[in-house]
Amino acid sequence: MRAIAVGAFRADPELVQLPKPEPQAGEVRVRVEYAALNPSDWQTPEGAPGDGPVPQVFPMVLGVDFAGRVDMIGSGRNRFRVGDQVFGRVPRPNPTGGGSYCEYVSVPQDSAVTAVPPGLPLRAAAALPSAGMAAAQLLETAALRGHETLLLIGAAGGVGSYLTQLASARGIRVIAVVRGDERRRMAELGAAATVDTTAGPLDAALRESCRDGVDAMIDLVSDGPDAFAERAAPVRRGGVAVTTRGVAAGAVLPAGVTGIDFRLEPSPVLLDVLAAGAADGVLRVPVDAELPLENAPQALDRNRTGGARGKTVIVL
Ligand SMILES: NC(=O)c1ccc[n+]([C@@H]2O[C@H](COP(=O)([O-])OP(=O)(O)OC[C@H]3O[C@@H](n4cnc5c(N)ncnc54)[C@H](OP(=O)(O)O)[C@@H]3O)[C@@H](O)[C@H]2O)c1
Repeated sequence: MRAIAVGAFRADPELVQLPKPEPQAGEVRVRVEYAALNPSDWQTPEGAPGDGPVPQVFPMVLGVDFAGRVDMIGSGRNRFRVGDQVFGRVPRPNPTGGGSYCEYVSVPQDSAVTAVPPGLPLRAAAALPSAGMAAAQLLETAALRGHETLLLIGAAGGVGSYLTQLASARGIRVIAVVRGDERRRMAELGAAATVDTTAGPLDAALRESCRDGVDAMIDLVSDGPDAFAERAAPVRRGGVAVTTRGVAAGAVLPAGVTGIDFRLEPSPVLLDVLAAGAADGVLRVPVDAELPLENAPQALDRNRTGGARGKTVIVL
């Protein structure tokens, strides 16, 4: 099968031919039709911090998010049947080196994989798992219930586009922090205010729109504790500052502000909830770009330099 893989940490991703994975007992094999790009797809092969001590296996097929059709079932009990349309997230680290940037993926039937509901195109389903689940769990982590203010740094990308919608649907006032003129797009997703940091400093903009500070800050961007602490400055005493980049430990935060290192806990139940919302049209799936498998290495390079506006989908 065709796959985009790396042969070692920090090696360049390339198009390779690999054997189809055989589904093991309790696994389901999926003929992948779409994969979606996440920053972890280039961070993991760099040996990103937070991957933990579990060794990776090479060649490592990149990617985690997928949607397609079940084409083979492993032995034992299984909740899927051949032909089912499914979507999900490949567990990482994966003991076989498998990922989703390839034609076939085998995953445990009880992992974060679930049926695609009627009305949801496979292409949209592929764009949901990592960013959608992270957005939903980030909202729970920040424990915002409504009528509160959330400062969201890096709001224009995959996680930010879902989180803006989920938070505003709960009545939370989202202040979306972006680079560039994204006001209209972020307002359509539900942001109450959008701050473009290329047009002026964040603190000056917040002094105008948010004098009493914010209840929570979710930072999808800062790659060090100092930058994270600086972005947490507007959080009021008793509030929280959450990072997806593993930089809360060591950050000197304002007095009375709790710092949290977020870690995604993939779950098939959460996938069902997100897919139902997307199928009903309540949750918009912001697919920004679609490209063939062989162009995935260039798309990863682009994502590394920023500029994401929603999700990039890879067609198999
Ligand atoms: N810990 C976990 O379990 C977990 C789970 C999910 C995601 N993550 C991490 O969370 C991060 C975000 O994920 P994602 O899927 O949303 O990535 P993404 O789709 O690539 O979006 C990132 C966004 O951040 C923006 N950005 C970058 N620097 C910025 C700045 N200084 N100010 C404002 N916006 C800025 C980018 O646009 P511009 O470059 O145009 O500004 C882009 O829109 C990634 O590092 C990912 O690995 C971690």
